[in-house]
Amino acid sequence: MARVTLVEVFNHRITQKYLQRSGIHHAVTVAENALQLAVKADVSQDLATKSALLHDMGHYEWYRDGKWDYEEYRKHDIHAIKGAERAHKLLIRLGEDRLVAKKVSLAVLLHTDSYLPFELNDKRTDLQDVVAEADALDEQPGGKHHYKEMDPSEAVRRLHVLDAEIGRISYKADH
Ligand SMILES: [Fe+2]
Repeated sequence: MARVTLVEVFNHRITQKYLQRSGIHHAVTVAENALQLAVKADVSQDLATKSALLHDMGHYEWYRDGKWDYEEYRKHDIHAIKGAERAHKLLIRLGEDRLVAKKVSLAVLLHTDSYLPFELNDKRTDLQDVVAEADALDEQPGGKHHYKEMDPSEAVRRLHVLDAEIGRISYKADH
């Protein structure tokens, strides 16, 4: 089965709809971080980068006009749950392998424990750790990382680079 690429994932209308809210810059940067960390941790770069690209697609009503109350948002936040379902639906629509879709969905679900009544600490798998760490590396106080700008054409260019790297280094159909 041919690999579903990051560029294909990015260009899908579902991704375009939801990534605008949490920021393309953050999504692409976290995917780049995830590739580096995946190499070090010896986990699937395909899974790590897809999970990273989609990890925040569950954010909703993410206003850019400065009126949004970040603390209030965090209190009611279930973006990881929404994101996990959206990422799964998106990948299945793209014809992704169902096990890949499930692993990505779980990595999205567990990329943060800020909405859970307990901490995940050492309970994450290596893949889930990579995604959480890749995200943490780009985080800024007050959620400012969601407001950094990136042109969609620049995002596609950078994702092409990642796709080429993943294809070259280690893509295995069996994950
Ligand atoms: Fe994030």
